[in-house]
Amino acid sequence: MTIFNPNTLIEITQQFGTPVWVYDTATIRQQIRRLREFDVIRFAQKACSNTHILRLMREEGVMVDAVSAGEIERSLVAGYSNSDNPESIVFTADLIDRETIELVIQHHIPVNIGSMDMLYRIAEVNPHHPVWIRVNPGFGHGHSEKTNTGGPNSKHGISLEDLPHAVAVIQQYGLDLIGIHMHIGSGSDFAHLSQACQVMVEIVKLANVDIRAISTGGGLPATYTEKDVELDTNSFFRLWDEARKEIENHLGHVIKLEVEPGRFLVANAGVLVAEIHCLKSTQHHNFILVDAGFNDLLRPSMYGSYHKIEVVHQATHQKPAIIQSNELEYAVAGPLCESGDVFTQDANGVICHQILVNAKVGDLLVFNDAGAYGASMSSNYNSRPLAPEVIIEEGKYRLIRKRQTISNLLALEAL
Ligand code: LLP
Repeated sequence: MTIFNPNTLIEITQQFGTPVWVYDTATIRQQIRRLREFDVIRFAQKACSNTHILRLMREEGVMVDAVSAGEIERSLVAGYSNSDNPESIVFTADLIDRETIELVIQHHIPVNIGSMDMLYRIAEVNPHHPVWIRVNPGFGHGHSEKTNTGGPNSKHGISLEDLPHAVAVIQQYGLDLIGIHMHIGSGSDFAHLSQACQVMVEIVKLANVDIRAISTGGGLPATYTEKDVELDTNSFFRLWDEARKEIENHLGHVIKLEVEPGRFLVANAGVLVAEIHCLKSTQHHNFILVDAGFNDLLRPSMYGSYHKIEVVHQATHQKPAIIQSNELEYAVAGPLCESGDVFTQDANGVICHQILVNAKVGDLLVFNDAGAYGASMSSNYNSRPLAPEVIIEEGKYRLIRKRQTISNLLALEAL
């Protein structure tokens, strides 16, 4: 069942309309607590970058990762400041444009370097800048090939072959090397994540340079289906802690251990709520059509991701449904003018079904576990405005992003 009280969701949709994103702060705080053993928890904000969520993270002592000028600006608006704490914001990328170079210099933001060209650019513009090296360890793993960020098919990171060269450039220019970072993929599993920590020890030895920190990257899995097992965060920490100790022995001093989750902190804390506008059947499927599409929640269309869907019956609604059965297998789709706009599909685009009980036009559908890479991956496709975001804190809800308007969209073109 959804973590939210159905009556609260109904109230929220009455006040803010549908589709709407809803987040539960208690779940986010609980996920943060599960990683407290790490010296630094750095939120990969691309998973859910609303500044109110970032503020919550900051209040909890969580640091932040930014991957664009926009994400840096969001971090600053949320109150992160590297002048107060030099670890607050790190910029991670494989390239850096001119605007972003200025921002990282102005705000003393360490840069996590993913390519030799990016390294040269930073070195030439600001020779003593603080940097991390993001290494591609030669293997990776994610919930989809599209989220695997290691190995020969990945555009990310500095390869092991280039690592000695990168270290030489860092030393030549006098860049301030903070640490070595690795991110093997998103939605990985315990086995692959633990494989990465042994490789980290070898990489530090290969780099043959002094560092102050290592980062595990993100990739910590969240649970989407009943079969998914919770990550054993204690064992995960212990394995990385052992790797850290080996590195400390090798370098002869203390090393900080960072973890950089996105999904793990927010996925299970958020839902997308939409309204059913249409029920129709074809020879193969009973379709439910809702007012949210892949412009809102892209993951099913992009990766074949599963989000458990539930019906919330609207008490006032009594219109007859075309399909009379109580419990049916439905394909759930959106309003977009594109046949791939289906929330129930596998990674090959084959339409699947979910069992929904007594769904009627006017009822709400809740797409669970959509807090990570939900709102943050939304687009304006078909000129549909971005949906509002609402947060629930200690039983009270409040709007944290207004619904975008069509005039907002058109304003950019009023030339
Ligand atoms: N660090 C780096 C350098 C990353 O590239 C990412 C994710 C993370 C941390 C956080 O990964 P997480 O802990 O969330 O797995 N849109 C996809 C996920 C793409 C992730 C991209 N990078 C999805 O919806 O599954």
